[in-house]
Amino acid sequence: MRRLMAANWKMYKTSEEAAATIEHLSKLLGGSAPAGSEILVFAPFTALEAAAAAMRSLQGGYIGAQNMYPAENGAFTGEISPDMIRAAGASWVLVGHSERRHLLGENDEFIGNKLRFALEKGLDVMLCVGETLQERENGEVSAVLERQLSRALTEVPETAIAHLAVAYEPVWAIGTGRSAGPEDIMKAHTLAANLLEKHFGRVREVPLLYGGSVKPENAATILALDNVDGVLVGGASLQAESFTKIVTA
Ligand code: 13P
Repeated sequence: MRRLMAANWKMYKTSEEAAATIEHLSKLLGGSAPAGSEILVFAPFTALEAAAAAMRSLQGGYIGAQNMYPAENGAFTGEISPDMIRAAGASWVLVGHSERRHLLGENDEFIGNKLRFALEKGLDVMLCVGETLQERENGEVSAVLERQLSRALTEVPETAIAHLAVAYEPVWAIGTGRSAGPEDIMKAHTLAANLLEKHFGRVREVPLLYGGSVKPENAATILALDNVDGVLVGGASLQAESFTKIVTA
């Protein structure tokens, strides 16, 4: 399984800052991602073009957008289409991030629409799933993962497998400094792995990433767990030094 080391920059960095961070990252890594790994940077829309240009200096590095709207074009004020994202030099998109589910009210159906449309338009998609603290305390982790995955993957064909990744990001671990423990991560990833195998009816080829307070100090432990094929990093990806430590963990 290929390893995906992903940075989600959220609403941080101008285009200049994004390019400078990627150039720095490339320098620290000697111009290429570690063997067997791909590096993904999900940058703000306004920085996509500059980030993609800077990423040419890093072999095995790719740029993604953090969101998109599931239509070709049209009267959707403030939204961005997959074609626009691709034209800016990005090849990936995040779909279903918990901040969009919970702060911006996106539901499973809308997320499913985005996922299918992005794949149709030739983007690689990282689908984010994960439970809230309340749902965890109610013992609903498996029900939530099953619901989020099955609704997002409705009518997603087997041919999409090579263009899909799933990130498990428990909402209570995002930006809190409190990463999920190895047991919790393994349980959730085993569950997600089984659901993916069931959905596509074959041995899992879709990379499964963990996200939520990943730092240089805990990255190696998390990456060594079964069914963990990479990490999706917020805060600790903003500085090239700390993200490099994670990428090389
Ligand atoms: P933090 O690494 O800052 O907890 O953010 C995780 C995340 O939301 C990545 O998508």
